[in-house]
Amino acid sequence: MTTATAKTAAPPAILVQGIEKSFKDVQVLRGVDFEVTPGSIFALLGSNGAGKTTLVRILSTLLTADGGTATVEGIDVAADPQRVRESISLTGQFAAVDEVLTGRENLVLVAKLRHLKNPGAVADDLLARFNLTDAGARRAATYSGGMRRRLDIAMSLIDNPPIIFLDEPTTGLDPQARIEVWQTVKHLAAGGTTVLLTTQYLDEAEQLADRIAILHQGRIIVNGSLTELKQLLPPAEVEYVEKQPTLEDVFLTLVGDHDADNTARGSADTDK
Ligand SMILES: Nc1ncnc2c1ncn2[C@@H]1O[C@H](COP(=O)(O)OP(=O)(O)OP(=O)(O)O)[C@@H](O)[C@H]1O
Ligand SMILES: [Mg+2]
Repeated sequence: MTTATAKTAAPPAILVQGIEKSFKDVQVLRGVDFEVTPGSIFALLGSNGAGKTTLVRILSTLLTADGGTATVEGIDVAADPQRVRESISLTGQFAAVDEVLTGRENLVLVAKLRHLKNPGAVADDLLARFNLTDAGARRAATYSGGMRRRLDIAMSLIDNPPIIFLDEPTTGLDPQARIEVWQTVKHLAAGGTTVLLTTQYLDEAEQLADRIAILHQGRIIVNGSLTELKQLLPPAEVEYVEKQPTLEDVFLTLVGDHDADNTARGSADTDK
């Protein structure tokens, strides 16, 4: 792209330098370094217990690091946590939706808590953006896992933060619901939001991320685009093999694409 030089020159949306964190005698983060370009999707991969959530909690000011520095939008997370909180949203590993309320009521509630002027309009706009208009009047308890996740992400986007942290956004979702969440994340980034997500699903990182970093034994052991990561292995030998569909291809062909299309189009398509 012709803007490559301009992009490198832009200050990073997130800058992490030498972050360390221990819990008692367990050293979880041993000097983590990386940066995230504004408007890009950055995926942090790592096994269970690698420290992904710990890092996200440090960056979102919920936890203090023992060493190193981190800035979000140029603001130091340790020195000025209040201002950092104004630039970010966090969707945690477990959905924060109130099941007794309808989808719309959940959104209105958060908009009111943030003292926004027109909570109803804000809620309706988000319901439309997340293909939840039809379900807006239903209690969230009746939502599928994918709908609940989308509502959760919508709630965290109420005041249009420039940076969003998604901690395992699709864990526990079926393949269709995962694709719905992926589309949501792609739209966010296309609109200029910087996304840092953690995941254990390698295909999720492949699908979404501009850059992928692997957190292992307290450090980032690789960090690059998918193409760059693939170049770390010896070049593939050309072999003639019959390409078998994956189980995911089969699943999506049988149950996925048709329903996913209907959901994505929402009610705007009823006169067809
Ligand atoms: N508050 C805490 N007190 C003690 N140990 C903790 C605390 N929070 C996290 N840990 C430990 O730190 C390590 C990293 O945990 P963390 O939740 O960051 O991992 P993770 O990469 O998010 O894992 P997962 O993929 O399972 O979500 C684990 O060994 C965990 O037990
Ligand atoms: Mg975690």
